[in-house]
Amino acid sequence: MNDNHAQLCPSPEWAAFLQDEVLPALTGDVDLGDRMLEIGPGPGAATAWLRRRVSSLVAVETDADAAAALRDKYPDVEVRHGDGAQLPFTDAVFDSVGCFTMLHHVPTTEQQDAILAEARRVLRPAGTLIGSDSLASDELAEFHEGDTYNPLDPDTVERRLKAAGFARVDVRVHGWLGFIAHAPAGGAGA
Ligand SMILES: C[S@@+](CC[C@H](N)C(=O)[O-])C[C@H]1O[C@@H](n2cnc3c(N)ncnc32)[C@H](O)[C@@H]1O
Repeated sequence: MNDNHAQLCPSPEWAAFLQDEVLPALTGDVDLGDRMLEIGPGPGAATAWLRRRVSSLVAVETDADAAAALRDKYPDVEVRHGDGAQLPFTDAVFDSVGCFTMLHHVPTTEQQDAILAEARRVLRPAGTLIGSDSLASDELAEFHEGDTYNPLDPDTVERRLKAAGFARVDVRVHGWLGFIAHAPAGGAGA
């Protein structure tokens, strides 16, 4: 993460955006269940909100220092240092998975798709993935100077989620990209 992220991601303004706008919009009609996984929590703006809404929250963060800091901050969250594209869990062990503002930090489309496929794999039948990301713009590209910047094309997200095995996909664009996708009710082959 570059210095711009070091200032924005832990800020109260960013937490308010996620907690007052993004997460309520994504979870309004969604049952997160008891056991949730968050991929790419960073400093934990979404984690702080989600940990109060599920019985058990697990987070997988690829940056070792960020994972350690989050573990210290929220001892009730099981924070793992790892890669969302290679999740250290068996199949179908989560009721819900979330990933917020992290996919554009994943360098290739193939790695982004691997994260979506892993999210699908660890969800129980009919479990739910919720996600959000920033929309591409010149300003956002500038913000990421010296950092990974691989924004998603919103027009491809439904197709990519279905290719990852999700059913009932809802993609929304309203200043930011949001998506809700459900694992098939009948399990992996359904
Ligand atoms: C811009 S931050 C967003 C943090 C938080 N989700 C939020 O919205 O405030 C992106 C985070 O995703 C993490 N990340 C990037 N690639 C990842 C991967 N493959 N697996 C897990 N975490 C990853 C980064 O280390 C960083 O902490």
